[in-house]
Amino acid sequence: MPRPATLVMAAALIGVIVLAILYPQPMLAPGPVMPAHAAIADDCFACHVPHKGAVAERCITCHAPARIGRFTTSGKAVAGNKAAFHQQLATPDCMACHSDHAGPALTGHSPTMFHHDLLKPAVRGQCATCHAPPATMLHRQFGTTNCGSCHATSGWTPARFAHDRLFRLDGEHNVACATCHVGGNVRQYSCYGCHEHQPAATLAEHREEGVRGDISRCARCHRSAEGEGKEDDDDE
Ligand code: HEC
Ligand code: HEC
Ligand code: HEC
Ligand code: HEC
Ligand code: HEC
Ligand code: HEC
Ligand code: HEC
Ligand code: HEC
Repeated sequence: MPRPATLVMAAALIGVIVLAILYPQPMLAPGPVMPAHAAIADDCFACHVPHKGAVAERCITCHAPARIGRFTTSGKAVAGNKAAFHQQLATPDCMACHSDHAGPALTGHSPTMFHHDLLKPAVRGQCATCHAPPATMLHRQFGTTNCGSCHATSGWTPARFAHDRLFRLDGEHNVACATCHVGGNVRQYSCYGCHEHQPAATLAEHREEGVRGDISRCARCHRSAEGEGKEDDDDE
């Protein structure tokens, strides 16, 4: 004959199991699923596989990667296209970025994160397919290409902008872009705003220094205020 205490405990255990079966969401889940999933909140195995946890294969049964960010699960077109990068994922590893059940406090995962490493290598560098540049003159001139030459995925600012190899912006030359790039046009520059305002006089000074030929493109010889005005052959 089991002792009364054992019977009470067995009854309590059975009660817990019954409650868990009847009300799985509050009993076993670490918190409510996101509102969009309210309809399947109690259907744990819509997302979970026993002993494996939530798996991508289950998500994909409702969210075909080719349609994410384009169409809802019921086929309605999604405006804005904000999540249409899902088509570019190297592997459909949903849980690398998504969680559920009210997010980080309970599952230890951020509800959504983003890692560029998970994109297909071929598209990872094509920043402009997913990001629009701000409407500045500089960005208009660089069009939609090559964001990566000035920006890293870790943050837009500071821009990793290697102006030094073009012309070092230190000392007296640490001035607003438009001082040299008149009107903000970085495809052109003028040094006459500060230096000898008359091209003819500058030319004369250079002739005195024994400089021959065309001097209009100053940066061919001057990459900074320092040093000899050496002709830079690899510029051409
Ligand atoms: C809409 C999909 C979805 C539904 C439905 C769902 N879960 Fe989850 N669940 C998740 C996701 C996503 C995670 C986070 C997994 C991760 O981060 O790897 C999670 C995490 C958990 C965890 C934390 C441990 C773990 O595996 O990470 C438990 C426990 C859990 N769920 C239980 C439940 C129970 C019980 C139910 C049903 C009442 C349920 N879930 C319903 C998607 C779901
Ligand atoms: C049984 C179908 C089903 C399953 C399985 C499912 N979802 Fe959903 N999910 C939906 C529905 C329905 C919506 C509402 C929007 C829609 O219809 O596209 C939604 C919306 C979402 C949203 C957008 C949330 C928002 O607030 O806009 C994300 C993100 C999402 N699901 C991720 C997942 C992930 C990750 C999994 C796997 C762990 C998963 N879903 C499993 C049906 C499902
Ligand atoms: C590289 C990270 C990453 C991966 C991997 C990923 N997602 Fe997402 N997902 C996001 C981000 C970021 C959003 C946009 C969240 C927002 O709107 O703020 C998003 C949005 C969504 C949405 C909402 C789409 C809409 O129209 O608003 C759904 C559904 C979704 N993801 C499902 C999935 C599923 C299913 C998988 C696995 C096949 C997956 N995601 C893999 C990062 C990811
Ligand atoms: C020639 C270099 C260069 C290129 C190419 C470039 N940017 Fe920038 N970008 C900058 C500079 C400089 C800033 C100013 C950031 C700072 O203050 O450090 C900036 C700022 C930004 C910002 C932040 C705006 C803000 O105020 O927070 C975004 C977003 C941005 N760029 C997106 C892009 C995108 C998208 C592309 C590609 C289409 C691109 N950039 C190409 C140089 C560049
Ligand atoms: C396939 C789409 C895709 C490509 C390609 C891509 N990104 Fe992203 N990027 C995203 C998404 C989605 C996010 C997260 C959501 C958001 O913050 O807009 C993000 C976030 C960022 C952020 C963080 C934004 C912030 O405010 O903190 C930076 C910076 C960034 N990307 C830079 C880049 C650069 C630079 C490249 C190219 C080398 C690039 N991305 C390529 C989709 C992409
Ligand atoms: C003191 C003058 C000066 C200032 C100030 C200056 N630049 Fe320049 N910049 C130059 C010169 C000179 C070149 C061209 C070098 C060459 O032709 O090799 C150049 C080239 C560039 C280029 C490359 C253009 C191309 O066609 O590839 C960019 C982009 C640029 N500058 C952006 C900027 C930005 C952004 C600022 C402000 C943060 C700035 N510059 C400030 C002198 C300047
Ligand atoms: C904001 C005004 C300003 C602009 C724009 C400017 N400079 Fe200067 N630069 C100066 C000043 C001031 C000095 C230091 C005083 C001096 O020697 O004239 C200087 C010094 C120099 C020197 C060293 C002079 C010496 O005597 O050793 C060179 C070379 C030079 N600049 C080249 C350029 C070139 C090339 C450009 C255009 C790409 C340029 N600067 C644009 C103001 C400017
Ligand atoms: C073909 C090469 C070459 C070109 C192009 C060139 N320079 Fe020079 N520059 C020199 C040499 C060489 C000197 C004399 C040695 C020195 O001081 O570096 C010099 C000297 C200078 C000086 C020093 C002080 C002076 O006035 O004597 C300044 C300032 C200067 N250049 C500005 C410019 C500007 C502005 C331009 C464009 C309009 C320009 N240079 C184009 C080669 C060049």
